[in-house]
Amino acid sequence: MIKLKLNVNGVPKTLVVDPEDSLAEVLRKQLLLTGVKVGCGQGQCGACSVILDGKLVRSCSTKMKRVADGACVTTIEGVGTPDNLHPIQESWMVHGGAQCGFCSPGFIVSTKALLDENPKPSREDVRDWFQKHRNACRCTGYKQLTDAVQDAAKVLRGEMRAADLRYKLPADGKVWGTNLPRPSAVAKVTGTCDYGADLGLKMPEGTLHLALVQAKVSHANIKGIDTSAAEKMPGVFKVVTHKDVKGKNRITGLITFPTNKGDGWDRPILCDEKVFQFGDAIAIVCADTEKQAKAAAEKVKVDLEPLPEYMSAPAAMAQDALEIHPGTPNVYYIQKIAKGGETKPVFDKAAVVVEDDFYVGRQPHMPIEPDVGCAYMNEQGQLVIHSKSIGLHLHLYMIAPGIGLEADKIVMVQNPAGGTFGYKFSPTMEALVGVAALATGRPVFLNYSWYQQQTYTGKRSPFFINLRFAADKSGKLLAMESDWSVDHGPYSEFGDLLTLRGAQFIGSGYDIASIRGEGRTVCTNHAWGSAFRAYGSPQSEFASEVLMDELAEKLGMDPLELRAKNCYRKGSTTPTGQDPEVYSLPEMIDLLRPKYKEALERAKKGSTAAVKRGAGVSLGVYGAGLDGPDSSEIFVELNEDDGVTVYACWEDHGQGADAGALGTAHEALRPLGLTPDRIRLVLNDTSKAPNSGPAGGSRSQVMTGNAIKAGCELLLASMRKSDKKSYRTYAEMVKEKIPTKISGKWTAPATNCDANGQGKPFCCYMYGLFLAEVAVETATGKTTVEKMTLVADIGSVNNRLVVDGQMYGGLAQGIGLALTEDYEDLKKHSTMTGAGFPYAKQIPDNMEVFYVESPRPDGPFGASGVGELPLTCPHAAVINAIHNACGVRITKLPALPEKVLAGLKAKGR
Ligand code: FES
Ligand code: FES
Repeated sequence: MIKLKLNVNGVPKTLVVDPEDSLAEVLRKQLLLTGVKVGCGQGQCGACSVILDGKLVRSCSTKMKRVADGACVTTIEGVGTPDNLHPIQESWMVHGGAQCGFCSPGFIVSTKALLDENPKPSREDVRDWFQKHRNACRCTGYKQLTDAVQDAAKVLRGEMRAADLRYKLPADGKVWGTNLPRPSAVAKVTGTCDYGADLGLKMPEGTLHLALVQAKVSHANIKGIDTSAAEKMPGVFKVVTHKDVKGKNRITGLITFPTNKGDGWDRPILCDEKVFQFGDAIAIVCADTEKQAKAAAEKVKVDLEPLPEYMSAPAAMAQDALEIHPGTPNVYYIQKIAKGGETKPVFDKAAVVVEDDFYVGRQPHMPIEPDVGCAYMNEQGQLVIHSKSIGLHLHLYMIAPGIGLEADKIVMVQNPAGGTFGYKFSPTMEALVGVAALATGRPVFLNYSWYQQQTYTGKRSPFFINLRFAADKSGKLLAMESDWSVDHGPYSEFGDLLTLRGAQFIGSGYDIASIRGEGRTVCTNHAWGSAFRAYGSPQSEFASEVLMDELAEKLGMDPLELRAKNCYRKGSTTPTGQDPEVYSLPEMIDLLRPKYKEALERAKKGSTAAVKRGAGVSLGVYGAGLDGPDSSEIFVELNEDDGVTVYACWEDHGQGADAGALGTAHEALRPLGLTPDRIRLVLNDTSKAPNSGPAGGSRSQVMTGNAIKAGCELLLASMRKSDKKSYRTYAEMVKEKIPTKISGKWTAPATNCDANGQGKPFCCYMYGLFLAEVAVETATGKTTVEKMTLVADIGSVNNRLVVDGQMYGGLAQGIGLALTEDYEDLKKHSTMTGAGFPYAKQIPDNMEVFYVESPRPDGPFGASGVGELPLTCPHAAVINAIHNACGVRITKLPALPEKVLAGLKAKGR
């Protein structure tokens, strides 16, 4: 131990510290400065950035033995407070810089260090600084952060007043469609927002810290688990194994498709007989400290009999492959599509036929905040589980039988989440912390390392697709034939639904009269398939959008004009035979056309022998909602002070659930003339809010938005006086015995798809046109995206700031998907940099988003869903742009430099 005197945020502190501990640990655990966030813990994300003696450092990789006695440390807490915001924090809020907000304290401290050194940085200086200091953001796409720095610098130079930056309520009081900062923004930019790991540090004495014993192989039989040595380790309270689990010890996959050959009970909470994938949890060590738990976890001995590891769909489909779940075939679900007449005669006679094979891989979600949760018993004898869940009621029913409790004995709460992007549509650690709390009778806390986040949470499921188009010589699509295999990892949850997405979205956006195809869900030993933004469409539409360009090439047609010829118009139907709810694609193409022509010109002029430039387009479509009659419920209550409280489980990945709920309620309650601060939100606690359904499939704005609208309208109706103009106060309602708290419900007018993939699964869709401009280095094959343009129709826009943030962030993830991101190699891809995380310089500063707002007949105030649209198909635009630049057609992602270089060499360029 060493004694140090430090000056922390201007306050002298005397500390006794372990010289091997990191500065981040000391600031967080000993000083409770939890504004210092720990993401990767490996010096790769910058979430832990602090200023140490005038220099920006990553505190997770700064050992205390390197911190000088008397050193000065500035953390986010020393930059500004909620009552006294620093201009950088103000600017971060108004530019939407804090989405999930987990990276925000690190970025803001980093910006402070930059502006202390350079008060007038150019945009490129800012981007260089963030790149050099490894400040990583997974939500925003970086553009807003650079905007925020520029405006903060102006305020600090005295060229602008902070007050000029602030959001001003419009004169008519209408906030719908404006840039109102999200309610959680102040807490996020000041580091006062307590994420799961922060809550963990503030748990009561006696809380046990958990460490998992995890499989280091991908497939094996378990012969025995010996916990005796671990139990004798210092600080260990108990080692929990499957024998301690009181219920079925399985998480149900809630299989709803009757033709699924599995039963859904295939995922163990703690492995008993088999290991199904790398990282599977075998035991939980519960100890007084995290260090003790981790040390003891190393001592648990697991006797394994190795089995063949099937690490891809083709491997698991081989004739001689073992059944991964004995009794259930590895191909456990088949989804067909049959629309219109037979395709064979059409293909036989068609003027043009194109065909190709496509692969979109295991894109990792890579939130900056690793998975985290805690559990305890409440005073009513219920088990309370806090996690990053984006499906609180869904998860409750998925884990209750496995844990061995009735559903009403479990309460699920969502912590502020530092990004999920869909991986939290699956339960991750909920059942583990639940089982540990029950087995020990103590509060428990579990925080994954970023390595565990990457290696032991679900990933995007790879699709292997063969696709054929038949067209006439004018380019009119006549028929499509598709075949797709979905590698869903070992656990079946939602695998059938994902396979259905192939039927719904391969070829979507185009009027194709005849379609035949078949998809299948395949059980493998690679990472389990979980939801990821745009779920199924990035795989499905990559195939059809790249093949559209191949068709255009064969026809000698411009790719945008080929899309214009075939896109939905009145009389068109979707691949599922549904009439689109709006027909905005022709207008969107008209808007994009001049920009596309300019991009082609720019590319031509900017190309040299060393750098080839090109432009490419793609079209993206996604449905908002779970399939069929999806529904949601909320409560709305008139408060004693005549404000209103909305209760909902509108879970927040970081996308802005609070802003979505507030904007919708405010619009619905406008007759009351309330300012937004008088509408309170009680979100994401199953003991307080009803089942609004999970936050997935871009359903929340449509389903829960409509439920909020319905509830608010009912409340207004009961408050309205006989003059039809004025409204009762709370006191008047109580006096007249009129209920002040009511429920709002809504069900989508939609029908499930049948066995042939035909139906009207979604009442609202989202439409997008992507334009990518790229530069390809011919010597290395390295591709840089120089500009992205998106024309989006997501209906009427609720909160412009939040929606812009979703668009830029989704585009950034699309660029990552196109060029770098993967989780295939269990070792190489286990870190952020190894898995191809895009930093500031990999994402263009030049991104433009245009909205065509076609009001949706079934959307609340005309709104459709939002978050999935920008990741439906931007990667295909990038790949099409690469072909436009240098003639290399990449069909299997990611387009790593070596693949592009091989293509260039094959073409003799
Ligand atoms: S760089 Fe320190 S937590 Fe990532
Ligand atoms: S706002 Fe940057 S990681 Fe979420």
